[in-house]
Amino acid sequence: MDRKKMSSHLNDAPSAEKQNAIKNFGDHVSSGKAAFFKKYQMEMVMDRREGPYLWDLDGTKRLFNLHCNGGVFNLGHRNRELIDLLKNALDRYDIGNSHLISKPRADLGRDLSERMPGDLDYTIFGVGGGEAIDLAIKVARGYTGRTGIVSARGGYHGHTGLAMAAGDEKYRSPFGASHPDFFQVPFGDMASLSATADQTTAAVILEPIPATLGMVIPPENYLKRVRDLCFEKKIVLIMDEVQTGLGRTGKLWAFEHDNIIPDIVVLGKGLSGGLYPISATVIRKPLESVFHEDPFIHVSTFGGAEVGCIVAQHVLETASSPDFLAHVNRLAHCFSDQIEMLREKHPTFLLGLRQLGLMMGIELKDELCGPLLSKTAYDNGLLMVYANNDSRVCQLLPPLTMALEQVDEVIDRLDKALSSARELRRFFKGSRKNRSTC
Ligand SMILES: Cc1ncc(COP(=O)(O)O)c(C=O)c1O
Repeated sequence: MDRKKMSSHLNDAPSAEKQNAIKNFGDHVSSGKAAFFKKYQMEMVMDRREGPYLWDLDGTKRLFNLHCNGGVFNLGHRNRELIDLLKNALDRYDIGNSHLISKPRADLGRDLSERMPGDLDYTIFGVGGGEAIDLAIKVARGYTGRTGIVSARGGYHGHTGLAMAAGDEKYRSPFGASHPDFFQVPFGDMASLSATADQTTAAVILEPIPATLGMVIPPENYLKRVRDLCFEKKIVLIMDEVQTGLGRTGKLWAFEHDNIIPDIVVLGKGLSGGLYPISATVIRKPLESVFHEDPFIHVSTFGGAEVGCIVAQHVLETASSPDFLAHVNRLAHCFSDQIEMLREKHPTFLLGLRQLGLMMGIELKDELCGPLLSKTAYDNGLLMVYANNDSRVCQLLPPLTMALEQVDEVIDRLDKALSSARELRRFFKGSRKNRSTC
């Protein structure tokens, strides 16, 4: 820490640099977010970052990242190998031109095809997940000639046009964004899906484990039955692996746990290595026919930026390695054992762990608990965010590269955060004249 930062720390007042950043953010980026973080005394300005950690601009606060931006930082912050690759790539490439033939895009497309099962052979690149979902829906509609899209209620696929239409109503209703032919069913409910998906349905789109809905683990065989239904009714099955892909669940792709092959797989977040935005819509070979008549009918200027492709190639190679996946599974066992111990210690507050590999959600007593735990986790040095569409659940998404020894540190901090959140909850409930037993 430099002297200026140290002295501001000793005075316990934010440095002028930090105060300016907060003011400018509130005045010119988001007044609402600035007010929110002030209200909850969480005015951290993210600065230095490395591996699983990020530090405040004043250097006085450090957080262990258990959110990882939904998997963007699967390989940790500022992964050295990826930074070197990106720097080298910049000596030769830039974004490229999305209309022309590109070697980095061709190489990444080949690598994705090699690591996908069946004939998931073609990839159309984008910048973000929402854009990649939009394209998946376009391809499904173009291929089937149908328009209906069925998704899970409370699922999340992004905030762009078609992706938003497939997501929760609360994100679209203020903007008057209604798209016809989008239908939602409860996740895991096969009967509702069978009743809704018919000969007008172009695609069923699902996250293997809906993150924003609270890391819901589907009932046994659910995805297999969805796959069968889609085959039977000639519906395109889109798997949104934006969060679950690239090793997060202990296998390279989450759909492998169910032994199915989707028609379209959407990737984003982690593919970027946390350094260069890129997303991918991987489609089965027959579906590529929608672009035969006019291969220029879909364009994304920055989609599959060439320097980003080079980073993504390495991310894919890393996430495919058996040693890497074994590490993820070892970490997953450690978390499951230690969180069970926490559950025994806080049985009325922490109800259970939803888990597939390191795709984890901590299930809590009620809707108040997720926001409270996010706050007390922050106070105890953990960045952890509750699930927006079910605030009884706190998402737990550590970097896949964290060391096994670091699990103890996380659990120790989480233990303290749980105790404080329990206290806070008592206070809140008490102030509502409704004392609880928790
Ligand atoms: C499952 C899932 N799909 C799609 C998206 C949209 O990705 P992006 O924010 O990059 O548009 C997200 C983002 O959180 C996501 O979690």
